[in-house]
Amino acid sequence: MKLTIVGGGGFRVPLVYGALLDKAERLGLDEVVLHDVDEARMARIAPVLQGLEEERGGRLPFRATTDLDDALEGADFVFCAMRVGNLEGRVADESVPLGHGVLGQETTGPGGICFALRTIPVMVELAQKIRERAPGAWLINFTNPAGMVTEAVQQVMGDRVVGICDSPSGLCRRVATAVGRDAGELWFDYFGLNHLGWLQEVRDGEQPLLDGLLRDEAALATFEEGRLFGGDWLRTLGMIPNEYLYYFYYAADTVNAIKQSPHSRGAFLLEQQAAFYAQNGQGPAEALAAWRKTRHDRERTYMAEARNAAGDCGEHDLDENAGYESEAMAVLEAIALNTRAVLILNTANRSALPFLDARAVVEVPAIVGRSGPVPVAIGEVPAHARALVETMKDVERTTIDAALSGSEELAIKALALHPLVPSVTTARELLAGYRARIPELKQTFGS
Ligand code: G6P
Ligand code: MN
Repeated sequence: MKLTIVGGGGFRVPLVYGALLDKAERLGLDEVVLHDVDEARMARIAPVLQGLEEERGGRLPFRATTDLDDALEGADFVFCAMRVGNLEGRVADESVPLGHGVLGQETTGPGGICFALRTIPVMVELAQKIRERAPGAWLINFTNPAGMVTEAVQQVMGDRVVGICDSPSGLCRRVATAVGRDAGELWFDYFGLNHLGWLQEVRDGEQPLLDGLLRDEAALATFEEGRLFGGDWLRTLGMIPNEYLYYFYYAADTVNAIKQSPHSRGAFLLEQQAAFYAQNGQGPAEALAAWRKTRHDRERTYMAEARNAAGDCGEHDLDENAGYESEAMAVLEAIALNTRAVLILNTANRSALPFLDARAVVEVPAIVGRSGPVPVAIGEVPAHARALVETMKDVERTTIDAALSGSEELAIKALALHPLVPSVTTARELLAGYRARIPELKQTFGS
């Protein structure tokens, strides 16, 4: 089995490779190919992977190439996490809106729209290449904004693209711990779009557990979402929202908090990673140690000093086998070994959320086996959640259309219709601000 990692010079690639090392034999995986447009970044990551291989004593041959055709040829699975415009782009995504009193965040709000506008054309091109070179491959997509990117790529690859995110499973795990159970024993009624979902029930057999948890202040205080939203608001909603909904429910608070923080998340990561990628010529053990140190330092420092103040609430798990990559492994295993595991994924709706059409990409539990994810029927949801999902799906689709047509009018429409953008004037100013900072947008929406 051949697996290709697009974005192979990325800082998180060692997490993925480490997880693959553990599973290679069981999966029958015999070749990993890294692809990146930036050869130097890949050359920095490769010895880290060698370091992991030597440390674990496992064997999983990998090679690195900048030739995409070669990388994709005959692949069975493609993992993709790319950041078009690099971290400099993320800094612009996050900082331009703040100048207009609007949320500045990587995926939620106008930042996510700007990120999508430059990423979707590149991802669609990748999907076309996959169709040519590896028509039987599954694309497991981490590239953010994952929901929009997956829906756009689906236009080329159909159901062979699966979008993944670690935040729903993280929420379920934390809730399971808060009620004193193991997540594997419980059923989670989670629904929504990527970074816009809600946990509306948790069941142990037939016994519903959510109401009891919502009334238990001490238990709510034991996990991130409980503290973030507060017991009163959670009881009012009757559901536990994904952490990213903090930016909707506490919009003004987050803008104020982020403005006061010393640097945006993107700026922080840029500084940390530049130092890591600048180091050259290290052997495997040394490169692995440098990577680990960068990773641990940056998370600790940021979480302690800035992230909390910023109200920035993405999940950050320091355990090398828990967060980001374990979702990808779960999907890979479920498809390759036909396990029919239940995973919360971004996939075509079919009729999971009856108020959306069949092709809309949603984030819901799905049964995953050899024929891919089959979403479970969610049925009706509370009116507030339905309304927000419908609005955001329209914003997402307008963004996809804007990205693929290069239409400035549609880009402004997407920004203006986003619930966190207060005025059409602001939307115009945001696009102008982004265009001035982001070369990819200057070309596409250039005027
Ligand atoms: C979570 C989200 C990801 C997001 C990440 C940001 O894991 O689910 O979609 O990319 O946070 O983390 P970072 O360390 O880059 O701020
Ligand atoms: Mn995510």
